[in-house]
This record gives sequence, C-alpha cells and structure tokens, in this order.
Amino acid sequence: MKILVTGGAGYIGSHTTLALLEAGFEVVVLDNLCNSSDAALHAVEAICGKSALMIRGDVRDRALLDRIFQEHAIDAVLHFAGLKAVGESVRKPLEYYDANVGGSLTLCQAMAAAGVFRLVFSSSATVYGEPEQMPISEHFPTGTPTNPYGQSKLIVENVLRDLCAAEPRWSVALLRYFNPIGAHDSGHLGEDPNGIPNNLVPYISQVAVGSLQELSIFGDDYSTADGTGVRDYIHVVDLADGHLKALQSISQRTGLNIWNLGTGDGYSVMQVLRAFEQASGRPVPYRVMPRRAGDVAESWADPSKAARELGWKATRSLQQMMTDTWRWQSNHPKGYQG
Ligand code: NAD
Ligand code: UFG
Repeated sequence: MKILVTGGAGYIGSHTTLALLEAGFEVVVLDNLCNSSDAALHAVEAICGKSALMIRGDVRDRALLDRIFQEHAIDAVLHFAGLKAVGESVRKPLEYYDANVGGSLTLCQAMAAAGVFRLVFSSSATVYGEPEQMPISEHFPTGTPTNPYGQSKLIVENVLRDLCAAEPRWSVALLRYFNPIGAHDSGHLGEDPNGIPNNLVPYISQVAVGSLQELSIFGDDYSTADGTGVRDYIHVVDLADGHLKALQSISQRTGLNIWNLGTGDGYSVMQVLRAFEQASGRPVPYRVMPRRAGDVAESWADPSKAARELGWKATRSLQQMMTDTWRWQSNHPKGYQG
C-alpha cells in the first residue's frame, strides 16, 4: 500500500513515516518544511534503511496534489500538515485558518477528484474545551476552543463529519491526540521546535542541555494534587503505532471514526519535571509564574475505545518518555542542526 503523509517531515509525521516504512508501506511525504527540515527524513532512512519519497510543496497547492495523485497510486492519506503554535495562532489567525482549514479543504477536494477516500486526520484533545469530568471520552461534547488553532481543528473535524454524511465512500479517522512527547529510542529522531519551545517537555529538555536558563511553571494554584497542571503525556512512538492501527481499521470500514490517543494517566508539571531530572541526572531550575491564559487545570484521556476497536494501547511509561527525550536532546543539543 502507498500512503501520502502530509507534514511527514515534522515531529509526529516523521515518527509515523518510520513506523509505516518499517511495516512495509510505501510512503510519499508532502511537506513545505516551514517547521521542519528534511534531516528528519534522512534520520528515518538511517534508522530503518528504507526511504520515503519527499516532495517539497504546500498542501494548499491543488495542482501539485493533483499531480501527486496522478503519478502515485495512493491508497490513503495521513494528514499532519498544519501550523500548531497556540499563542501564534492568536496573533496570526488568518495564517492558521488558511493553513489548517484551507489546507484540509484543498486536500479533501483533491482526494475526492482522485477517488481516494481514506483519511487519517491529526486532531487534538483541545476540541473538548474544558470538560467537567475526567477522563475524557469520545462521546463528550466538543467545547469551544479558546484560540484559532483549536478552532481550526474543530472546524476541520466538522467538515469531515459532513463529508462522511454526504458521501458514503469516505472513511475517516479523527485522532484526538493528548500530549505527544518523547523521541525514537535510537536518539536520532525527535522533536526540534523552531525558536523557544511553547510546550513543557521540549522546554525542560532545553533547560537541561543548557540552551535555556530556567523553566517557568505556569501556575501552582490549580485544584490538582500539587497545584500544577495535569496532562496525559503520550510517547510519540506509541502515537505513531496508533496511526497504523487507525489506518488498518479505516481500510475495513467507511464513515467517520473518532479515537482518543492518550495513555489514560495524568501527570502534573512537577511530576514531569522530577521524572526528567531523574532520567537526565541534571537539575532543572524553575520559577513559578502566573497561570498561562487558555490553559485547563487537567486533561487526560479515556483511551478504552481505541483499545477496544483498534487493539491499540500506549505501552511506554513516563520514565521512558523522559529517557528517550533526553537521549535525543543530549545527542542533538541544537536539534537537527547539531
Ligand atoms: P510539526 O510542526 O512538527 O509538523 C507539521 C509539519 O507540517 C511540519 O513538517 C511542517 O513543515 C508541515 N507543514 C505545515 N504547514 C504546511 C503546509 N501548508 N503544507 C505542507 N506542509 C506543511 O507538528 P507535529 O507536532 O508533528 O504535529 C502534527 C499534527 O498533529 C499537526 O496537525 C498538529 O496540529 C497535530 N497535533 C499536534 C500536537 C502536539 O502536541 N505536537 C497535539 C495535537 C495535535
Ligand atoms: N507548562 C509550563 N511551562 C511551560 C510550558 C508548559 O508550566 O513552559 C505547563 C502548562 O501550563 C500545562 C502543561 O505544562 O499545564 C502542558 O503544557 P503544553 O504547552 O506542553 O501542552 P498543552 O496541554 O498546553 O497543549 C498541547 C499542545 C496543543 C494541543 C493540546 C491538546 O501544545 O497543541 O496539547 O492536548 F492542542
């Protein structure tokens, strides 16, 4: 089977490309490299001895998509391409709606024209808003995301729902990721954010490696066990495996399917920090700061639907996530540049 992976040079896309190649799929990557470099795909090749075909281009370029579908017998599309920085999305809403919503619309139009109806979409737990209860199940209503990034994910989910209702040939997986972290255990494929990281774990690991001075903990007055925010951190390699299971499942059915991809366990910022210090053997200086606007106190998944329907379960522990993050960060203090 031949799979088109949009955004395949990015953090989650590159780990999933590796998993696809290892499982014997042929992979065509479409990425404009606006938040990545093709070094990630070179690392994939070095790890597994197989390579994806990399096409540098934009998912909003309809003529390019038509050409790709003409030249390759694509069976399904994994759609990772998009912009993901929550704060930036507040400042640049048009760019976010254009890339995330516009890109998804153009992709679906090109897919329909080419007769390709299998799609796995990278959604996010952010679509749940601020649920009153934990853990979060797929049957919970979607909320009102507080920023354009979250809105763009919800809009695309709704578009895909309408598409499946209107045209029975579509077979779509909406994968709602919780908090992907970690790196491949080779230590040569990992997360390489542009500029100062927005997310907790890349920030901590850059403090540990000496690139940043100290971590700001955004609030210690939440109603959680130690007062800091709680999230469901999931190893990126487990997440990549979830995509393969979802792909397998939508190849055998049509319609819209929603799966949470999380571990079912919540850890606080403080617990993550301590686990990282243990894995790296380095102290991580921190300062408690006011809460970050838009953050929820806690968020963790009920992953039982994915277990039941996909036979998928995350298996890697928080300690392993920290160890793999540190292996990657200490091997590549400047990411793919060094
Ligand atoms: P990433 O930025 O590392 O990867 C996205 C890739 O898409 C990058 O390689 C980028 O160059 C490419 N890209 C962006 N716009 C493009 C366009 N218009 N045309 C072609 N390529 C384009 O991000 P990631 O963490 O790997 O996330 C992948 C997907 O998962 C995104 O859709 C993101 O919103 C979603 N997601 C991520 C998280 C997370 O915490 N990382 C959580 C939930 C959902
Ligand atoms: N945090 C800090 N200091 C930092 C960064 C984060 O204390 O420097 C805290 C946050 O307040 C939060 C926790 O660490 O309590 C996790 O924050 P992240 O920024 O790592 O992750 P979020 O849960 O805010 O958001 C992530 C992705 C979003 C996605 C969301 C949904 O960044 O794209 O998960 O699951 F929408």
